Amino acid sequence: MVDDILDTGDLDDLLSEEAINSPFTFYRRLRERNPVYWNKRWNGWIVTGYDEVTAGYRDAQRLSSDRFSGPFGAEVREAGENTRLLDFLSKLFVWKDPPYHTRMRSLVFKAFTPRSVEILRERARELVRDLAEPLRGKERVNFLTDFAFHLPVIVIAEYLGVPSDQRYEVRDWSDDLAAVIFVRGDDKQRMQRAEASLARAREFLTPVLADRRQNPRQDLISALLFAEEDGRRLTEEEVIANVILMVFAGHETTMNLMSNGIAAFDKFPDQWQLLRQDHSLLRSATEECLRFDGPIRGLGRWAKEDFELGGQQIKRMDRVFLIQHAANRDPAAFENPDALDITRWPNKHAAFGQGIHTCLGAPLARLEMQEALAYLTTQFERIEVVQDKLEYGPTMVSRSLKGLDVKFHEA
Ligand code: HEM
Repeated sequence: MVDDILDTGDLDDLLSEEAINSPFTFYRRLRERNPVYWNKRWNGWIVTGYDEVTAGYRDAQRLSSDRFSGPFGAEVREAGENTRLLDFLSKLFVWKDPPYHTRMRSLVFKAFTPRSVEILRERARELVRDLAEPLRGKERVNFLTDFAFHLPVIVIAEYLGVPSDQRYEVRDWSDDLAAVIFVRGDDKQRMQRAEASLARAREFLTPVLADRRQNPRQDLISALLFAEEDGRRLTEEEVIANVILMVFAGHETTMNLMSNGIAAFDKFPDQWQLLRQDHSLLRSATEECLRFDGPIRGLGRWAKEDFELGGQQIKRMDRVFLIQHAANRDPAAFENPDALDITRWPNKHAAFGQGIHTCLGAPLARLEMQEALAYLTTQFERIEVVQDKLEYGPTMVSRSLKGLDVKFHEA
């Protein structure tokens, strides 16, 4: 099944109605034109072939993630003169290269291991039930705002050790700080909001950190404080940066995985029925939702040297946009790519990226999605999308529904 848009749109407009709301036809046309395509308007390469996208993610040697130098650096600096804020943002290791990235990632990984995440499963199961139950029997609920928005905030806030009355505040700081880096331009208010959020984050987290240093608990803030490698620990500023990174990287993405997944099942109701009958498919169903309509459209890099990708000559300082959504629907990598097939296995999708920056939170996102699907398929015969048209936020990075009105049909 493919989106039914005519082949007339502008291939250079990555924010066109087609690119935003029917990306899979748009990317297919791009891939068929050239899997590594020079986009004049964006002034960079758009990569849509599976092999080329995954090669790009794996090539941290030649493709930089550093948002604070190269062609993106100039944009970030243009966006604001506040060096303190930029200095803080530059501690978010997702936007850095080795060696800073390597050191920071390995310290954070010591705190945020797949095993420590698995302990959260029971709690996630309870939360799914508590969030879904009040929605039962209603004619129309917004799945995104009433369910999917809450689960990841509560899970990560509890895991971090943030008190329940402050969990949404933490999410607001991370949102304000992320907005600075994602949108170019001179929105002074955005910079002011980010500065204010950073000040509030520091004000709130400083005493929490002091307390955990004295009385460590079984939470992620304590684990981040005490993670140690070669006698080195994270500084207080680095712990604060990583707390914000976890919320920022994990909230909207997990929310969108669940909402996009429910929208996908609505188009393929036989797959919902199949999952209802066989919960041994929860793992493969989660991977298929990540592949079919994952939360991230694509991510940017820039070339540190000249090299060849997919037969094209990439020049030093060129921007390169690696589109996971396109890779995940490439027929050269996936049979019948436009069908949701929850039995698909193995499923080598690129939704979590690949290489040295591969998502650290993947086990947590998977766990939440598996628990949500387990409960919802047990309780509901169908979750019907009752909205005429699905609309997505106009960003190049995030595949984010503006809302998802559904009706829960009792089993
Ligand atoms: C379905 C949900 C999620 C998706 C699709 C997703 C996707 C990604 C992707 C594509 C990257 C690679 C970034 C790059 O290569 O530049 C990444 C990195 C990262 N993600 Fe996730 N993510 C999700 C959930 C989470 C969660 C729940 C957390 C934590 C609570 C998290 C934390 C991180 C961190 C810390 C990184 C940086 C890793 C690094 O740079 O080494 N993510 N994620």
